[in-house]
Amino acid sequence: MHPLARIDHRHVWHPFTQMRDWLRQEPIVLVSGRGATVRDVQGRQYLDANSSIWTNLHGHRHPVLDAAVRRQLGRVAHTSFLGLTNAPATELAAALVQAARPPRSAGALRLNKVFFSDDGSTAVEVALKLAYEHARRSGQSRKPRFLGLRGAYHGDTLGATSVGHIDLFHATYRGLLFPTDSVMAPYCYRCPYNRARPEAADARSYRRCGWECVDQVARRFDRQKQRGSNYAGFIYEPRIQGAAGLVPQPEGWLGRVAEIARSHGTQLIADEVLTGFGRTGVGTARSAARAPFFAGQIEGVTPDYLCLAKGLTGGYLPLAATLTHDAVFGSFLGEYGEFKTFFHGHSYTGNQLGAAVANASLQLLRGADSFAARRQLEQLLTEELRSLWSLPWVGDVRQVGLVVGVELVQDRATRAPFPLTVQAGIRVCAAMARRGVLTRPIGNVVALLPPYCTTPAQLRRMVHTLHEAIAETAALTP
Ligand SMILES: Cc1ncc(COP(=O)(O)O)c(C=O)c1O
Repeated sequence: MHPLARIDHRHVWHPFTQMRDWLRQEPIVLVSGRGATVRDVQGRQYLDANSSIWTNLHGHRHPVLDAAVRRQLGRVAHTSFLGLTNAPATELAAALVQAARPPRSAGALRLNKVFFSDDGSTAVEVALKLAYEHARRSGQSRKPRFLGLRGAYHGDTLGATSVGHIDLFHATYRGLLFPTDSVMAPYCYRCPYNRARPEAADARSYRRCGWECVDQVARRFDRQKQRGSNYAGFIYEPRIQGAAGLVPQPEGWLGRVAEIARSHGTQLIADEVLTGFGRTGVGTARSAARAPFFAGQIEGVTPDYLCLAKGLTGGYLPLAATLTHDAVFGSFLGEYGEFKTFFHGHSYTGNQLGAAVANASLQLLRGADSFAARRQLEQLLTEELRSLWSLPWVGDVRQVGLVVGVELVQDRATRAPFPLTVQAGIRVCAAMARRGVLTRPIGNVVALLPPYCTTPAQLRRMVHTLHEAIAETAALTP
């Protein structure tokens, strides 16, 4: 075993990992990367098929991003954001406000205030605290309550966990959390209202239903109103729920439920930690100038809070932001002695290195080259994924832009899922790693989220390797 792997085994505890299994095998120790590839300490090269847990956008060691970090390092790495400000973070705030502007902005909300934090969980935490207190101060609610979607994952801090609805992750900690409600989320492939028989296609495309998932949301809001108070906030991931199993929403769902929430005076909290920065595709845009940055823009929904992290720095450094508008900001304005201050913050808020690289990443995203590459990659992905249907284990293949979830099933005709203990997804991903392609499953769903710089040949290899890995794992499973 490599000495670094031995040290890891002795001292390191990894996230979301059964450490007993971890300690049974030599870990991959990554030491470098370039573009869509990473290299381990033994010199073996891999394709980074989940963009280093959904963070990387433009590839590793991108010259523009590297230069931005170096330039900033030549000035200063970090200074306090308490009582002080700095150049890259203020420039980034302005750039994010610009990026979040709705495409057809007449009369729409303007997200023009930016609160920085460190990661996806803290971006959500900030939104929850702001929404809670804004609801109280604006007289909307004395005991604000939040509604989220079943299967939701918004991070691991206690507020984010409270609005999470994945029992496997969250049930243990219920005693530590504040109560929230959940409502049915679209999951066309496993929807009890979808009367269509399984086909070899994305379940959204052949579903037969009457939008019962939207009716359920309407009923949830009505029930809450009958109890005497509306929900203070409705939190959702637009277009696709990530950790729920990469479960996409049918087009039009978000607009419908946002309208319901708005009609009840409920604030919208969009968690775009995964979906932000072009990850869910270019939509119908024909040029870089019109390309959406955020999934909500594709659906025409502007939230009251926009939570960003992961891709914000192009996957270089931990940095997050929560955007909101003047009305919320106004709730926290007052004379000092009124103590309306938002008493919240982190030591690394507004980190200069992170902000500098985030500015450079946004510039790249705005460029015509990035737009063209992403559009091409999206189309190629759609074409390549078709080959997976020849595998009986493949039940659903769902693509939203440059996010793909492939759901593995025991039987395509009945959609029978594998028990988690079979570790179907884990085994397929291990077989992919042996072939030089890295990704991680979510239960029985294998994720593919290529970096935007992935070449057509690399993309074909990712899908081909997934194909081979599923075939091999199926052959070895009794
Ligand atoms: C939608 C969503 N929200 C929040 C988070 C939490 O982000 P972080 O891991 O950076 O705290 C994640 C992480 O996967 C996520 O997918």
